[in-house]
Formats: sequence, C-alpha cells, structure tokens
Amino acid sequence: MRESFKVVLTEKEMPREWYNIQADLPHPVPPPIAKDGKPVTPEMLAPVFPMNLIEQEVSTKRWIRIPEAVLEILAIWRPTPLYRARRLEAALKTPAKIFYKNEGFSPPGSHKPNTAVAQAYYNRQFGIKRLTTETGAGQWGSALAMACKLIGLECKVYMVRISFEQKPFRKMMMRAWGAECVASPTSTTEAGRAVLAQDPNTPGSLAIAISEAIEDAVTSKDTRYSLGSVLNHVLLHQTIIGLETQKQFKKLGTYPDIVIGCVGGGSNFAGMAFPFLYDKINGKNLRVVAVEPAGCPTLTRGPFAYDSGDVAMMTPLLPMHTLGHTFVPAPIHAGGLRYHGMAPLVSHVLREGLIEAVAIPQLECFRAGVLFAQTEGFIPAPETSHAIAMTIREAERAREEGKEKVIVMNWSGHGLMDLSGYDAFLDGKLSDCLLSDEDLARSLKSMEGLPKPPNLG
Ligand SMILES: Cc1ncc(COP(=O)(O)O)c(C=O)c1O
Repeated sequence: MRESFKVVLTEKEMPREWYNIQADLPHPVPPPIAKDGKPVTPEMLAPVFPMNLIEQEVSTKRWIRIPEAVLEILAIWRPTPLYRARRLEAALKTPAKIFYKNEGFSPPGSHKPNTAVAQAYYNRQFGIKRLTTETGAGQWGSALAMACKLIGLECKVYMVRISFEQKPFRKMMMRAWGAECVASPTSTTEAGRAVLAQDPNTPGSLAIAISEAIEDAVTSKDTRYSLGSVLNHVLLHQTIIGLETQKQFKKLGTYPDIVIGCVGGGSNFAGMAFPFLYDKINGKNLRVVAVEPAGCPTLTRGPFAYDSGDVAMMTPLLPMHTLGHTFVPAPIHAGGLRYHGMAPLVSHVLREGLIEAVAIPQLECFRAGVLFAQTEGFIPAPETSHAIAMTIREAERAREEGKEKVIVMNWSGHGLMDLSGYDAFLDGKLSDCLLSDEDLARSLKSMEGLPKPPNLG
C-alpha cells in the first residue's frame, strides 16, 4: 500500500478538555428569557436539569476538563478515525483532498453518545437516578439508553408514535440497552392525555414528546430531563470531535481550507467546527459551512429571533434562527434535521460572520449519499448526506478552479437503520419537499408579540 487512508490516534492522545467557544466570542450570546422578557435564572431550570450541567450551560471558561469516568466510556469507540476519501476524490476527478471524521463508529452509530455519556455522568454525580428524553427517529434515544446503562441510571424515552411504529429497530436497540421506550403521546402524562383526547389517532410529534418527557421529569422523584442538541453544554461535549480532528491534521502536517457539517439542532456541526473557529478567531484563514435541508431551512431563511423550543412553549425563549415554533417540517428522511430552531451558539456565530450556511434539497443529498456508499463503502445517515452533498459541491468547484483545496466534513452517523429512505430514493419515490414562502410566512406569525433580541454590539 503506497498511500494511507486514515489517521488514527491512540487512547492516550484523546483530548482531556472540551472547548467552550463562549470564552472567545466577539460579542456574548443574548441570554435565554422567560415570556415576560426577563432572563432565565439557573434556579428556574433546576427542576429540569441538574445544577452541575446548568453551571456548564452558562460557563465562559475556555477549557473544561473531561471527567476520567467519561473518558473511559468514550474510549470504547474513541478516538474515531479521520479518513481520506481517496476513492470519492477519484470518482469526482477533483484535485481537492477530502477528509471525513467518522462518528458512525459509536455503538448506536452517531456522534450523539459523546454528550449522552457526559450528561448521564453529571446527572449521576448530582444524585439523579433516572433520565427522561424524547426521540424522533431514534438516534438520540438509543444513545441516551446506552449511556444510562453504562453509567448506572434508569432511562425512559418518549418516541414519536409514527417513528415508533415505522422504525422498530431503534426501539429494539433501546430495549436491549435496558431503557423503557414508549410511543408518544401516552396516557400517562397530562400533556399526552390532552393530545389523545383531541385526536386518539395522532401520529405524535417531537414537540409533544418533549412536553411529555419534561412533565415526567419535573413530576417524578430523582428524575431529570436530557436534551440531545441545541443547548450550550451539549455542543460543548461534542467539541471532542473537532479537537481530535485538529490533532489528526497535525499528524498529517496539513490544515483544512474548508470545514463542513450538517445542522439539525447544531450539535455535531458545532462539535467539529468550534475548535476550528477558535483558530479562525485567532487569525487563521478558513471557511466553515453549516448545511441544512432545503425543506427545513432554519439558518438560511429563518430570522434570528427569540422563540420557544417546542409547540406548547414549555421551554424558555432562546435567541436563535427559527422558522417559528409551530413550523411543521416536510417529511424528509433526514429526521434529525427536521427541527424549527437552531442552537443559539450556532445561530450567533452565523450572525458574527464566522460561518456560512447553505440549504440543499433532499434528492441531491441522497445522490451524494449513494455516491459516497459506492466509493467509500460506508452508508451515511440521511442527515450526514447533507454534509457530503456540500463537500461534493466544493470538490467540484476545486476541480473547475484547478485548486488543491483541503476539505474536511463531519461524518455524523451511519444509515444502517435508515435504509427504507435509500430504497424510496432508488425507486424514484422521493421529492425535494421545498418550503414555500407562504408556508414560511404562516409559521413565522406564531412569533408575533415575542420579545426581540438586541442587535450585535
Ligand atoms: C446522524 C445524525 N446526524 C446529525 C443529526 C442532527 O443533529 P445535530 O444538528 O444536533 O448534530 C442527527 C440528529 O438526530 C443525527 O442522528
């Protein structure tokens, strides 16, 4: 073998600290607020999250030590390899060098357990015995199920009913890891009963499942709620991805020109991008691109506003790019990218001009996912295929310009539980599911009357 295909790190080389971008932002992110416009205090969040995670949420310390017990679990699959996609490069006839960080190696198959393990650890340390959460297609629920079992907590997952029925394998994974997974809405919470009374055949939604999981947490003994994206501490835990990638590039003696990741709530993108933004803030010249679905174009078409994280408006108002909390995304197969809001930190770095955002239609993403599988072997999650589609656009541009660009993408997860989406694509049954201006305007109306965030600086 003349050329190498991947860079691996030893367990000893795993980063020992997470990177907190809040220490380096040119302007601070506006705080979450209550509906009366007053900032949310840590005490108000205490029934929902343990205080040690709330402290992390508001911390402005640049480096935060990763507890030894967390590292020992992450070491089951970390450090993850950084691959050079030589076969994809050859298929594209591009002079660009394409790299991908393979987060599909974790037992549940995505980046999600990087924060699930940390959150389970901090809850256990705080004396919590049980965690509740919601899940759509099941990546997050299965990650938290595994993490709770390994740390020693009980776990209950409210899974959107339509996914519970259509995607049985994720629910089976959660069971195998010892978690209780139920179809939401249930008749065991007030929120669930209210929805069932109106429509006993409802397919459920992420917003309903969030309401049930929070209600369960605040009304049960020794129980808290856990969220798999959006919040600052979740993004913090994911920075191990970018920190490892930087070490891997150092070994190669090179540095990326372009960093790419897909965005749903923003956690895998931030995990890869924020350590590189530290370099950018300190003078390095590079582009960082967030890729979202054209069917759910939060960063590219949603305003930066204060909005709620769920339909029932149970969460505080977060400063973020949003399509409106009543937005119902089209049924694209990238279930993890179908969210109306975006992490405040990701929204904020876009406002600061530190990153770019692009929306790509579903069919181009599936074409990219299939080309990737047929050249590199791994079948990507439909979410991940958005990062691949943008990488291909940039590699083709490099070919047209005759430039030897170095591109790295975060490969957020495998698609082995999403094969029905690939089947539908290959049978020609999918469409792009674009968002009309009328539908967007209708959904944005739900934010009328909410307070507005201040302008930058
Ligand atoms: C494989 C994969 N990639 C990406 C995402 C999007 O989430 P986030 O933007 O928080 O990384 C998900 C969410 O479920 C996912 O399962």
